[in-house]
Amino acid sequence: MAAVVLVGAQWGDEGKGKITDYLAEKAQVVVRYQGGSNAGHTVMVGEEEFKLHLVPSGILYPGRLCLIGNGVVVDPAILVQELDGLAERGIDTAGLRISSRAHLILPYHKGLDAAQEEHRGAAQIGTTRRGIGPAYVDKTARTGIRVGDLLDWPVFREKLAPNLIAVNELLAKIYDQPGYDLEAILDEYAGYARRLEPLIADTGRLVNEALNDGRRVLFEGAQGTLLDLDQGTYPFVTSSYPTAGGACIGAGVGPTRIDKVIGVVKAYTTRVGAGPFPAEITGAAGDLLREQGREYGTTTGRPRRCGWLDTVILRHAAQVNGLTGIALTKLDVLTGINPLRICTGYRYRGSIIQDFPASLEALQQCEPVYEEVPGWQEDITAARSLAELPGACRSYVRRLEELTGVPVHLIAVGPRRDQTIVVEEIF
Ligand code: GDP
Ligand code: IMO
Ligand code: MG
Repeated sequence: MAAVVLVGAQWGDEGKGKITDYLAEKAQVVVRYQGGSNAGHTVMVGEEEFKLHLVPSGILYPGRLCLIGNGVVVDPAILVQELDGLAERGIDTAGLRISSRAHLILPYHKGLDAAQEEHRGAAQIGTTRRGIGPAYVDKTARTGIRVGDLLDWPVFREKLAPNLIAVNELLAKIYDQPGYDLEAILDEYAGYARRLEPLIADTGRLVNEALNDGRRVLFEGAQGTLLDLDQGTYPFVTSSYPTAGGACIGAGVGPTRIDKVIGVVKAYTTRVGAGPFPAEITGAAGDLLREQGREYGTTTGRPRRCGWLDTVILRHAAQVNGLTGIALTKLDVLTGINPLRICTGYRYRGSIIQDFPASLEALQQCEPVYEEVPGWQEDITAARSLAELPGACRSYVRRLEELTGVPVHLIAVGPRRDQTIVVEEIF
């Protein structure tokens, strides 16, 4: 199998970083295809923890070609900082390439993100304030500036100047905020241009060549299915397409090239930011799960909202991504919680529905329908095969497969590389 797409099946933070790193042992190319530095992917190498925002998680294996695809919005300030941080820790980043077609995040995207969030008041989305939404707005409005523009300085200036006039007017008149200075941005970005120039490439061509040569390519999803602009809980979503189709658009490969789509599923559900979350556990039980799972945002440090495993959203994820397999993570976090609950449907206007509703208003009225299943007390962090898991734990995995119709291929029982059970090889 040559091309595998890895997607988050819930609201992000499912453990995509850990699973990408695990699969990167066998993959030769790892591609980020959408999102930006709103992502925070944690990888543990031995006892060392790495938090990656833009650089593909494959970078921690030497010699991997790591691509930032055309669908990503790139904040060069964060990228440079991340590259420096990795170099300081002895990680070789020579394999990184950035698509010339990827869009740049500019300082005003971050300013607008924050100003718009403040302006929304109680209706805040709870964005990461990394400028993601405004950068994708510019991309679709055709006023974006691309990574490739860093290579042609007169063009860069020509594109930036009119954007700043419009942005500064917007900031002053609507948001009562100070504007941005053209020369200051040009100065700052000239530095990034010098630094990033050797890394800018036609990454789409590189991926297609790798596939033609029979090399194994892993498409590393960021965010999750329920944060997808079309398939998620709109408008409480991000501004891009984390779902599997986004991999083709955002990496520049055709759908015929993809062999497998793996959904990363956390053994329970979490969400950062606002928006409906039917299986959310409030109060002390939710706090317990947050502490046991160390559920605090990798990018913003915000406490994550926690809830039971919700198979309504997972069936939706299976459908819209065409999932061929599941990588189940953080199963160890459920140890000691008894009984466990699995959400199997929603009660909506007196009847039980199995399908994830498109309407936010409908979703807000949905009550979760739970099935109670026995928990387990045993520490499972040292298990390396299904047979070593307690019976109740195996039943939980089997129930997930039954309710989603998707087989579990990998099970993570801890954050480290070796804390992984292989049920079926992915590469
Ligand atoms: P991502 O955004 O999908 O890559 O996920 P994050 O890195 O934001 O959050 C997942 C967190 O769970 C990280 O701190 C990981 O180190 C950790 N993690 C991943 N898999 C496991 C697991 O199986 N068990 C435990 N206990 N932690 C895990
Ligand atoms: P990874 O890749 C979890 C959420 C934000 C907010 C919404 C919109 O680590 O799983 P944005 O800044 O994108 O405009 O915010 O999306 N969000 C994430 N939540 N994990 C992520 O990435 C996320 N990226 C964005 O919290 O609710
Ligand atoms: Mg994360």
